[in-house]
Amino acid sequence: MVPTPQDIAQALVAPHKGILAADESATTMRKRLASISVAETPENGHRFRDLLFTTPNLGTHLSGVILYDETIRQNASTGIPFTKLLADAGVIPGIKVDLGLVPLYTGSLEEVSRGLDTLDARLAEYYELGARFTKWRSVIRITDTLPTEASLVANAHVLAQYAVAVQARGMVPMVEPEVLFDGTHTLEQSREVITRTLTILFDTLKAYQVDLRALILKTSMALPGKESGTALVPADIAAATVAALTQAVPAEVAGIVFLSGGQTPEQATQNLNAIAQLGTQVWPITFSYSRALEEPVLQAWKGDDAAGESAQAVFIKSLTDTVSARNGTYTGE
Ligand code: 13P
Repeated sequence: MVPTPQDIAQALVAPHKGILAADESATTMRKRLASISVAETPENGHRFRDLLFTTPNLGTHLSGVILYDETIRQNASTGIPFTKLLADAGVIPGIKVDLGLVPLYTGSLEEVSRGLDTLDARLAEYYELGARFTKWRSVIRITDTLPTEASLVANAHVLAQYAVAVQARGMVPMVEPEVLFDGTHTLEQSREVITRTLTILFDTLKAYQVDLRALILKTSMALPGKESGTALVPADIAAATVAALTQAVPAEVAGIVFLSGGQTPEQATQNLNAIAQLGTQVWPITFSYSRALEEPVLQAWKGDDAAGESAQAVFIKSLTDTVSARNGTYTGE
């Protein structure tokens, strides 16, 4: 029997697992390679993805991997399509489907994600290629005057139109309104903006009759701005984050996953752990990290084939730690 979107959504937030967001655009992948002084070529980007996806026993720790348009079409070094390699390992292939950001209107400091006009044709192709869930990222910026109501409403409508289209194709939409860590705001401002963003988003999703039982929310944690000079205190972050989610996210939502958002791998792990330690919530909660999972692997690999196996061992260690954090049992050892 073909799994329904509700089944897929539940599998994505299954216990003791999380999601890897390996969906960097070609431009972002070049930045990742530059950060380890490796030539910024598509071949090296492929080598890095190959290293990640051929890691033994990936399905023990990962429920899903989010791919990018370029990678969903690629084969592993062994000749097997990445999507098949992942599916055979028990990992659900997903795909990022927004086409990046444009200004909300000419001269606006806020942005909206584009790609709706070509979405349905791309979804049909991605389904054929093996994708069973999708991600759409919107960006919300906090300053003294932002976000505006207009930007929250515009982004909510785009996310809802995306979610409807994805469910109509039998896949699970992951909606990601990323509230940026950049800025000088307080933890309280972050909590308030996340609450407002998600309240408007879920009102809009309901207006479009999106099935929340077949939808995953990908959200930022409530954090004091990166340039605020405030230390990240896991217990405070956890309390503010869970307060925002409890206020704004309906209980029917299949699950909530966090992005790492520019926190260090250790911060992202500690903060997830503190959130889990607050106890069971009405929705399953896990991670969908990119940078926090990939940075240690990039550093261990540095483009050297001979370091492949040790880099894969680092990846497994990061995954094991992050799964422990998801379970609230991370001890930092
Ligand atoms: P980070 O974990 O690096 O924030 O990436 C998650 C993601 O998918 C952002 O869109």
